[in-house]
Amino acid sequence: MIDNLTKANEYVISKIIEKDKTILEMEKYAVEHRVPIVTKEVAEYLKFMINSYESTNILEIGTAIGYSGSVMLQGNTNVRLTTLEIDENRYEEAKSNFEKMGFTNRVEQILGDALVEVPKLKKQYDFIFIDAAKGKYMNFYEDSYPLLKKGGIIFIDNIMFRGYLYEDYPKRFRTIVRKLNEFIEYLHQNENFVLLPFGDGIGIVRK
Ligand SMILES: C[S@@+](CC[C@H](N)C(=O)[O-])C[C@H]1O[C@@H](n2cnc3c(N)ncnc32)[C@H](O)[C@@H]1O
Repeated sequence: MIDNLTKANEYVISKIIEKDKTILEMEKYAVEHRVPIVTKEVAEYLKFMINSYESTNILEIGTAIGYSGSVMLQGNTNVRLTTLEIDENRYEEAKSNFEKMGFTNRVEQILGDALVEVPKLKKQYDFIFIDAAKGKYMNFYEDSYPLLKKGGIIFIDNIMFRGYLYEDYPKRFRTIVRKLNEFIEYLHQNENFVLLPFGDGIGIVRK
């Protein structure tokens, strides 16, 4: 039993070491510069979902430094990504990372507020990843839902906000917690919604 577990651990570690150098650099940069990026298990799950498509147009709200975007673009050359970021430094950092990964011709980066920019988009998407200001999730969802193809997926990260939705939370989070609870309540009315309690909580909706 222990031997099997040791072997399993060695296998997992060898897979992590195999990971692309730029991806590992992004993980290190995120820790050092306190950039919130998806957890490793969410990254693995995103990659798994995207790889199950033959070709995909993805919309991402919240590029940060391009980590989750790169994870989704890895391994499937038929994936195209439109990604929005409000912070100029992060936008530039992501640009450089997409270049290093060789993804530039598959990425459309938009610098600006998603609340302003998403309603201007004309494309239809197979997969929408919402990972930006939690207090605005309902707006991001309502603005992007019309851009989702029938059968497409909206994937929402951090929906359980470190468990604060169900526990005592610091007063400064009161508004975010209220808004996230309202959002989850709203999503529960949709029978094609599932809430998965891993990472920081993931919500998935199929159109
Ligand atoms: C959690 S981080 C995104 C992490 C990224 N998806 C990853 O896992 O690599 C959220 C990002 O959303 C950006 N953001 C917040 N509000 C935004 C808005 N209204 N429009 C666009 N970007 C926004 C923040 O600047 C931040 O970089």
